[in-house]
Amino acid sequence: MHLPNLLQQRFRNALASLSDEAETYASMIRPTSDPRHGDYQANCAMPLSKRLGRKPRDVADELVEQLELGDLCDVPEVAGPGFINLKLRDEFLYQSLRSMLGDSRCGVAEHGADRSIVIDFSSPNVAKPMHVGHIRSTVIGDALARSLRFLGYRVTTDNHLGDWGTQFGTIIYGYKHFGDPAVVDKNPVKELAKLYRTANQLIEYRKAVRSLERLRRSLDEATAGLAETLAQSQQAEASKQKAAKKAVASAERRVASAEANLESARGKIDAVDQDPQLAELAELHPDIDAAVLEETAKLHRGDEENVTLWKRFLPHCKDEINRVYDRLDVSFDYTLGESFYHGMLGDVVEKLEQDGLARESDGAVCVFLPEFDAPMIVRKQDGAYLYATTDLATLQYRLEQFNPSEILYVVDTRQSEHFEKLFAVAHHFGLEHVKLVHVNFGTVLGEDGRPMKTRSGTLIGLESLLDDAVERARQVVCNPERLAGFDPPMDEAEQEMIAEVVGIGAIKFADLSHHRTSDYRFNLDKMVALEGNTSTYVQYSYARTQKILENAEKLESDVIDMIEREGWSFTHPAERALAVMLIKLEEALLALHKDYAPNQLVDYLLDTAKAYSKFNDNCHVLRAETPQIQATRLALVSLTGRVLQLGLQLLGVGVVPRM
Ligand code: ARG
Repeated sequence: MHLPNLLQQRFRNALASLSDEAETYASMIRPTSDPRHGDYQANCAMPLSKRLGRKPRDVADELVEQLELGDLCDVPEVAGPGFINLKLRDEFLYQSLRSMLGDSRCGVAEHGADRSIVIDFSSPNVAKPMHVGHIRSTVIGDALARSLRFLGYRVTTDNHLGDWGTQFGTIIYGYKHFGDPAVVDKNPVKELAKLYRTANQLIEYRKAVRSLERLRRSLDEATAGLAETLAQSQQAEASKQKAAKKAVASAERRVASAEANLESARGKIDAVDQDPQLAELAELHPDIDAAVLEETAKLHRGDEENVTLWKRFLPHCKDEINRVYDRLDVSFDYTLGESFYHGMLGDVVEKLEQDGLARESDGAVCVFLPEFDAPMIVRKQDGAYLYATTDLATLQYRLEQFNPSEILYVVDTRQSEHFEKLFAVAHHFGLEHVKLVHVNFGTVLGEDGRPMKTRSGTLIGLESLLDDAVERARQVVCNPERLAGFDPPMDEAEQEMIAEVVGIGAIKFADLSHHRTSDYRFNLDKMVALEGNTSTYVQYSYARTQKILENAEKLESDVIDMIEREGWSFTHPAERALAVMLIKLEEALLALHKDYAPNQLVDYLLDTAKAYSKFNDNCHVLRAETPQIQATRLALVSLTGRVLQLGLQLLGVGVVPRM
């Protein structure tokens, strides 16, 4: 059930005689934050009265007269300048809760009407181990897939693996020059990752060595710039002080960023210099970066040796990421990597040329887009195809295969320009009927507010991060003090299971809790805490509901019988407040879809858990005053448990029966 929609319908009818823009005015209904103003509030009387040249309160009164809301709300109250406060009738809440009891969808309607949505997410470049940067796409994409599927869309998930790029040139080079075939055969996953790391470290070293001079100069320039800005600011007149301060702050930021860049390059150089083995390799492979590009190009040209190596390595690289997906409980309908489209790229370019969209320029083939300064290059001078060419082929393939109404690309904000261009070209293809969305997201930052890295400057491995989270979760929820309270006692296996569900859930939930476009700071302690806006808190609330049902020895079917026998009655405001939250799950899910923002569902679950906590503090269930009150409370507890469990499940987060 989606109350705002229901209310809007009624408002549209009532507004019809007052305005021919009933739709717009009817949409001005919001949930209230203060229960004294009812549960929802309509704000349309004020703008409408301006239009009509009448007093807002008169317009509001007339609307209230016209409104047919008797089955949903008490008589609406006109407040302040003309707000219309809507308070749901208890009778309506009872009916709504009753229809949720025994319904596995918790009252949420299907909205998809069999429309198809393709979600491109996770999509790591394989060959390198997954790192902290891969969390966001994986977790956000999975939550969208689960939620939209639940809403009744035909969702196709596709992991667009980077399985054809430079990283394979890197492994192939590493294998040929410092790999030991016997060792690789024995433990391929680990050894290939090691070869990648080593080769990549040498490449980074070379780049760092070459950039050192430039970075030093940038720092000098930034420092000089700061000194000058400081001097200017001291002489600035009073009226310009504010602007001067701003200029100083931004000059300081430039210095800090130049310092960070230089420090990062030095870190990469030191890491190699201080390791005799690596230092020797660095000496032996001075042109490794160019050589790696050449190995990649050979692979793309179909060079037999490199293709054979690629075929041998790829399954092991997939094993490596699949281990992480298993642990995260994330799966895909398709895993069509970049290599899958390799054979189609020539045709894509040819078609673009035939259609007059692409033309040659300086030996490369480019699509010139009026809305962009730089063209989209689809074939380089040397004949190589690009990331964009593959994405065009992928788009074409998905349209043919899945006939989608929406395609979502869950990819880092830093690729915005790529997707803007891709969508612009798609537009020229005549794809107006498909909604293409770059579901972009910000960066995971360390405690210091900079992109999260290890001390040597490499990105933190995803698996070790998951291990840390599980360990931290164990300390929080399975410490001796808490364990003493459980009867029967928790054995080792149960503790391990709980730590895993809580730890992994915490990382996912924390990521999803921020609006996807913002950056956030990674703080494990905060993420797994029992108190605060965490999944641990929601999971714990769920476990409390189960405990009560267990003590009452009631299943939901028993609760339904009780309700049928006794009927409903709210006797405390906390019961009603919880009921109002419980019927809003659908509202949260539609808000999630509207903005492709899982934090909408996170907020909803936290609010529901908080409403439940208030209810728990104020309303006895087992010692309720009358059977009717007890039936009502048991129904609320049972539904809270199911709404929390379902909501978490749609975010990819598990629950445990006790913790
Ligand atoms: N593999 C790419 C990367 O790691 C992301 C791919 C996203 N999907 C796409 N269709 N371009 O940056």
